[in-house]
Amino acid sequence: MQTTTAVDLGNPDLYTTLDRHTRWREFAAEDAMVWSEPGSSPTGFWSVFSHRACAAVLGPSAPFTSEYGMMIGFDRDHPDNSGGQMMVVSEQDQHRKLRKLVGPLLSRAAARKLSDRVGAEVRGVLDRVLDGEVCDVAAAIGPRIPAAVVCEILGVPAADQDMLIDLTNHAFGGEDELFDGMTPRQAHTEILVYFDELISARRKQPGDDLVGTLVADDDLTTDDVLLNCDNVLIGGNETTRHAITGAVHAFATVPGLLDEIRAGSADIDTVVDEVLRWTSPAMHVLRVSTGEVTINGRDLPSGTPVVAWLPAANRDPAVFDEPDTFRAGRKPNRHIAFGHGLHHCLGSALARIELAVVLREVAERVSRVELVKEPTWLRAVVVQGYRELAVRFSGR
Ligand code: HEM
Repeated sequence: MQTTTAVDLGNPDLYTTLDRHTRWREFAAEDAMVWSEPGSSPTGFWSVFSHRACAAVLGPSAPFTSEYGMMIGFDRDHPDNSGGQMMVVSEQDQHRKLRKLVGPLLSRAAARKLSDRVGAEVRGVLDRVLDGEVCDVAAAIGPRIPAAVVCEILGVPAADQDMLIDLTNHAFGGEDELFDGMTPRQAHTEILVYFDELISARRKQPGDDLVGTLVADDDLTTDDVLLNCDNVLIGGNETTRHAITGAVHAFATVPGLLDEIRAGSADIDTVVDEVLRWTSPAMHVLRVSTGEVTINGRDLPSGTPVVAWLPAANRDPAVFDEPDTFRAGRKPNRHIAFGHGLHHCLGSALARIELAVVLREVAERVSRVELVKEPTWLRAVVVQGYRELAVRFSGR
């Protein structure tokens, strides 16, 4: 157990190379606690890395809240405006109520019903990329599938889905390029304007999709409905696209994986968990202490921001043998890629189904995935994501 100081871990430049894993492994192995001075955040924040310490901060009885925000930059004096309204940054009654309302739409049963839709989307995408040309998986495959799924859940009419999928890809692509003259931020705003119209439509004509379900609850304002649609949009798109891209990366770099999945000798759910652990697309979650608390031997006063680095916990050598190695049969696999505690990802069943379908369909259609060059990584702290993954597929 050691306390280190000095680096601003909220600096996105630290995460564009694989050196990030070396740094995280060292911090996790010594169960370090690191203080980042004000810079990327106005007040500074503590960080934890080991599986044990991350689980302790996020655990259901830990004296921490998400209500001031769950990303670096927010704290008690600089709270997220959506706090107390949007599920991921609400607590107690509002959080319980929202999980109860939204949960059934993202449940395992709902996810199973969507698996045909996911399969059709994956096959459509593969039809376009199996042409022997170099394919950037991060742009052509990863984003398309989660965006289509989220449209279905929200209740976006079929005629608008292509437009919304394009907007979503642009809003969360992590790139500054313009699309239809829009920046990513403008594309996100455009989506919210579209949701506003969808909400008005559902008020006139009820439905059992997510927008219809939220609108039907008299306690929720239009603002609440909008924010929680946005929560599912962001939660469903920003992370899953990188896990899907990572699954293709695993096919390109893990010998025998394609054959094992095609032959049925690898258990698909176990492989999905390893993709989640290995890719860990949610890079950090932040909490603020609600009372005095001791973490890693250090007493923290109420109101202290603490960040849990999930990819570090998911490669903690105390919990995972050969943590950097992708092992298709890794069991047990107690990763916390979906977080831990009361805010554990509500879309985890959906994400798992999306990944399982991608793994199966690619194995079915493709005999080889060749890595054309090493991937590049997003300059980001919220997601650990691919900027570009260039591969060449050989069809079967
Ligand atoms: C929450 C990760 C896919 C919707 C979370 C959290 C994590 C996470 C770490 C917890 C945040 C916190 O503790 O503050 C992921 C990863 C995914 C994924 C790695 C894919 C690989 C999805 C999908 C959806 C979704 C597909 C919906 C379509 C949500 C929602 C929450 C959440 C609504 C808030 C839950 C709450 O606050 O109770 N996710 N997620 N996620 N996620 Fe996901």
